[in-house]
Amino acid sequence: MTDTASPTSGLLAGKTFLVMGVANKWSIAYAIGEALVNAGATLALSYLDDRMVRDCEALIANAPGSKLYKGNVASDDDLDALAAGLKADFGVIHGYVHSVGFAPPAELKNPFRETTRDGFGTAMDISVYSLIATSQRIVPLMTEGGSIITLTYLGADRAFPQYNVMGVAKAALEASVRYLAFDLGKDGIRVNAISAGPIKTAAARGIPGLTDMVKYFQQVAPIGAPFGAKNVADTALFLASDLSSAISGETIFVDNGFHAVGMMPLGLED
Ligand SMILES: NC(=O)c1ccc[n+]([C@@H]2O[C@H](COP(=O)([O-])OP(=O)(O)OC[C@H]3O[C@@H](n4cnc5c(N)ncnc54)[C@H](O)[C@@H]3O)[C@@H](O)[C@H]2O)c1
Repeated sequence: MTDTASPTSGLLAGKTFLVMGVANKWSIAYAIGEALVNAGATLALSYLDDRMVRDCEALIANAPGSKLYKGNVASDDDLDALAAGLKADFGVIHGYVHSVGFAPPAELKNPFRETTRDGFGTAMDISVYSLIATSQRIVPLMTEGGSIITLTYLGADRAFPQYNVMGVAKAALEASVRYLAFDLGKDGIRVNAISAGPIKTAAARGIPGLTDMVKYFQQVAPIGAPFGAKNVADTALFLASDLSSAISGETIFVDNGFHAVGMMPLGLED
């Protein structure tokens, strides 16, 4: 390593990671992809629709051998095609980042008690079952062991205005992480979630209360430094690498310490 090299360069040399969920340059998955590439990884990027191709191409422009795959995580056929493509192109995969979530907009707008059966099912299918369905297809390619990482939010543990069914889905996602970790440890595969603080991405802008969430977060979080996707990406890099070799089934908060606060000192909130 030269004096000018990044401290993480080479950390993931020779490793290939699937990254799911790049919609644009503001996506948490984009920042994670950048961190993995800077550490020497090759990327397989899966994206939902053609509007996302330009930014996906930009992300892999400096990552030789990296490839793009289109697919909807709600489709078994698409997931089968993704796994077949990865097998043909790479053979071995060293892990994947699941940065995908969705609930129908009405479910985030209406009071939680009005959650519909369809909306509940869609949120659980796309935001939770997709982690299990993807694991079924990618784990057979993880013959050298590795790391599975997903993204969650404190709304799994506490009620936030208008986070609604996504909070229920994130609670199920975190439980799924523990059960997958239990299943896959014997294969040398770690499974963890990062619980990120609020970041203004496309998905987050679908939550009507986002502006208030960010404002409150900035007032309350013990670490007052700016918070963003890069903070989350640094932890994802740690989880993707062997530096986290004994961590599995965990939800790691990356939120400037917000989750640890019970209340603010009275009179100091302004
Ligand atoms: N932004 C935040 O404040 C925040 C905080 C904590 C956790 N998260 C979680 O981070 C993850 C990434 O979200 P983001 O904030 O980067 O927003 P984003 O909108 O950039 O990413 C969400 C991604 O999910 C993809 N997606 C949705 N439905 C899909 C489907 N059926 N098939 C395939 N892909 C699908 C979208 O295409 C998009 O790429 C989500 O799980 C989100 O809940 C976000």
